[in-house]
This record gives sequence, structure tokens and C-alpha cells, in this order.
Amino acid sequence: MNKPAGRVRRGVVFPCAPHGDRSQYQSGVKLMTVQDALQREIDTYIAQNPKSQALNEEALKYLPGGDSRNSIYWPPYPAYIVGGDGTRITDADGNVRTDFINNMTTLIVGHRNPDVVKAMQDQVSEGWSYPGPSPSQIRWAEILVERVPSVEQVRFVNSGTEATLNAIRAARAFTGREKLGKMEGGYHGTHDSVAVSVAPKLDFAGNGTEPNSVEDYEGLPSYVTDGAVVMPINDIENCERIIRANADDLACVIVEPVNGRNGFVPAEPGFLEGLRAVTSELGIVLIFDEVISFRVARGGSQEHYGVTPDMTTFGKVIGGGLPVGAFGGRADIMSLYDPSNGAPRVQHAGTFNGNPMTAAAGVATLEAATPEVYEYVGRMGGVIRDRLRALIAEVEAPMGVTGVESLWALQFTPERVTDYRSSMTNDKTMTRAVFLGLQNEGFLLSPSCQGTVSSVHTEEDIDALIAAIRKVLGRLGYA
Ligand SMILES: Cc1ncc(COP(=O)(O)O)c(C=O)c1O
Repeated sequence: MNKPAGRVRRGVVFPCAPHGDRSQYQSGVKLMTVQDALQREIDTYIAQNPKSQALNEEALKYLPGGDSRNSIYWPPYPAYIVGGDGTRITDADGNVRTDFINNMTTLIVGHRNPDVVKAMQDQVSEGWSYPGPSPSQIRWAEILVERVPSVEQVRFVNSGTEATLNAIRAARAFTGREKLGKMEGGYHGTHDSVAVSVAPKLDFAGNGTEPNSVEDYEGLPSYVTDGAVVMPINDIENCERIIRANADDLACVIVEPVNGRNGFVPAEPGFLEGLRAVTSELGIVLIFDEVISFRVARGGSQEHYGVTPDMTTFGKVIGGGLPVGAFGGRADIMSLYDPSNGAPRVQHAGTFNGNPMTAAAGVATLEAATPEVYEYVGRMGGVIRDRLRALIAEVEAPMGVTGVESLWALQFTPERVTDYRSSMTNDKTMTRAVFLGLQNEGFLLSPSCQGTVSSVHTEEDIDALIAAIRKVLGRLGYA
């Protein structure tokens, strides 16, 4: 059984292990550490962002940590953003940066795309909050059903968190089983069921081939970890063994075909196919969490990999930048939500579900995201990965690159990153130094140095990005 010896409490730190003095280097006569380089980037950042610092101090009075979203917090404090247009964002100090993260992969056609702006303006002139369904939701659903192989029917919610919550709930009702199968290092939002082994401390995480079920933060009831069966991503042999051992209890297995948190790590050949085969055989609902990986192809990464799950969850791209989520899949599973034949087997309400404003932005974005757009962003993602690999080889930095199509990420480790354990070998200090260094050079990535491409990024933007990364690595001693 996939159980820890005892209940594991508070097992989380952000993945990244220090690498001792590997990144020390000799610069002239001075021995410089990556810690010194990070401090210099922090000093420059503070000098460039005084108004954000003042805003942060004000925010701290009312908001714990100064914000409502830990995933975009970074020390010493985040730059407060006041505008976005195309590829550029402007902060409170007037710094203009090229945005290569697009609200954590959301904005596939860039900030303030004219079609999306018009659709939202049109909707504003009609009204934006109704006590009944709006017609635009029908077109929105039709697009997902047409494009995404697994989706026969779909429902909209307001976040990816609600999407995975509902897909898991549906799987439990459909199968009559309770347990959730998930991957170590897999992030699926902030509801309880999935707050297990997202980033467990290795001291608590157990054997890599049979990971423990580790709670991600305090306050989770013990049934959360007891109800989760954790498995090693991209290791089909051990996943299959664990799934078979828990087959009588497993309602579903949820997996990101491209693991976001570990650096947009693609599925290894045969992994998704293997999961599909064993879950089909055992009557377990397979859920693909495509909140991020929907970027990989117009029909999601399930189209890219040619593997069709039973259920799919969405967020980010499909709402055009407004709060959004959706879950869809097999009609027999989705029919659990149907209230038209008396009481639905699974209840589902939500004041803002399928709201007309998000539907307008979502439809406009999905229609603007043509096959040509997907081809372009995917190709440019490949250009970035190739150029980064060439740069890393040239300057002999202990780094790597992961990603697929428009998604790319820097890895601050010489190890090939395929799963949570290998991503833990990243050097955290170097990650921070490069992230802040790039901000100082006018580029925004995610705090763990992940990036995306949107349809409005140009080849000149990419040239400038690579030049900036070269410069920042140079400041770290890799030149
Ligand atoms: C794969 C995945 N699933 C679910 C979520 C949760 O989505 P949201 O932040 O909209 O709740 C995220 C958010 O980043 C995600 O990356």
C-alpha cells in the first residue's frame, strides 16, 4: 500500500536544494559566490523599484504578505503592476518589462488583444451579471467540445481549483470509490483533496518509487492524506504497480500531461498511454489537468500526445485573462450534474459560473487562438529552448532547459529533470539571482524562471531575452 509509516505533518518547502559551493567562481582575484551575485541583483532591484516597495509596505498593513496570491510573491517584494499591453507590462515605478509569463501562461494572445478588448467592451454595454444563463456560454462550450478530444460536455467555473475539485467529485460519484490518485509534485489548485505531496520535503517523502502521501500545509484533516495515493510521475512501471494495488479504492487518477510546477516537464514516451491503459482496464476515471497544458495544442496536450482521458480540467487560457475554470469529459460522467431530470446526482452551483463577461473574453481569445497562432507560439517556444541550450553549453553553466511547444523553463541543475525528485536538485539561490537579474534587465518570468510565448512576441523580443539571460549569467560568472 502507498502509505507513509506515520502521518506526515508539514512536509513542504519550495523544491530546490543548495549546491554547496558548486557555483563559486574565480573572477580576477576575487572569489565570488552566487549568494553575492544574488545580493547585487537584490540591491539593483530595490533601487529600481522604490514605489513598489512603498506600495508593498502599505499592502502589508491589510493583506498578509501584501497580496492574495502566494504563487506570485517573491522577496524582497514583488513589483506592483499597473498596466499591460501586447508583450509589455508596466510597474508602479514606470519600469517597462517584456512579459514572458503572461499571467502564469494565461494570455496566449498577449495583453489587451484588440478582439478581446472589443468583446469585453461590447459585453459591458449589455450588462455583465445575470441571474440566468447567457447565450455566449453556448459558443464557449461548443469551442471546447469541438477542439478537445475528451470533452463531450463541459461546465464552467471560476478557477482551475474549482475545475479539479469538480472533476474529482464527479469521478467519486461515478465510481462509488473515494481515493484520489495523484502524482508527486503535481499541482492542481488549492482545495483540500489535492493538497498532498505537491512539494514535500524529501525527509518526509519516502522512497521515490513509492512516495509517501504528505500534507502540503497545516490544517488539513487526516482523511486528505489518507485518501490520496501518490505516485511518481513519468515512471509508468511504478505508477501501474501502485494503481493496481489500490484499484478497489481509486475513483480517479489526476495528472498534468505537462507538469507545470517542475518546469513544464513533458510526459515521457509511453507514460500517458500506460496510465490510459491501466485506468481503462480497472474502471478508474483518468483526469487530465490541462489548466496549463491546454497551451500545447488547440485540442490541448491530449491532442498533442494522442491520449484521451475520461475528464479534462481547464483554466487560464480559456478565460482570456478573466477568472475562469472548466471541467468536461464523457457525457455519462458529466450527466451527473444535469438537474433537468429531478435532483442531479452531483450538485453544482456558483454565482459567477459561466458568467457573460468571462464568456465574452474566453470566446474572443479562443477564436483569436487560431491554428496559425498555436503553430507560431509552439515554434517560437522551440526557438527559445534551442537558443537557451546553446547558450548554457557555451558558457558552461550547470543548467538545463525543459518545456514543450510554447512552454519553456530554465533548470538550475545539470541533471535531466523528469519528475519532482530531479527538479529538487535545482539551485534555489541561482534561480532567484537569474529571476531578479532578468527583472533588472527588463524581462518578467515566473519566480522559478519559467516562461511562455504569446502570439505577439516577436523574434526581436526573443533576441533581447537571450541577450539578457547571457548578461545575467555573466554576472553570475558564466560568460
Ligand atoms: C495544473 C494546474 N491545475 C490547477 C490550477 C489551479 O488553477 P487556479 O489558480 O485558477 O485555481 C493551476 C494553477 O496554476 C494549475 O497550474
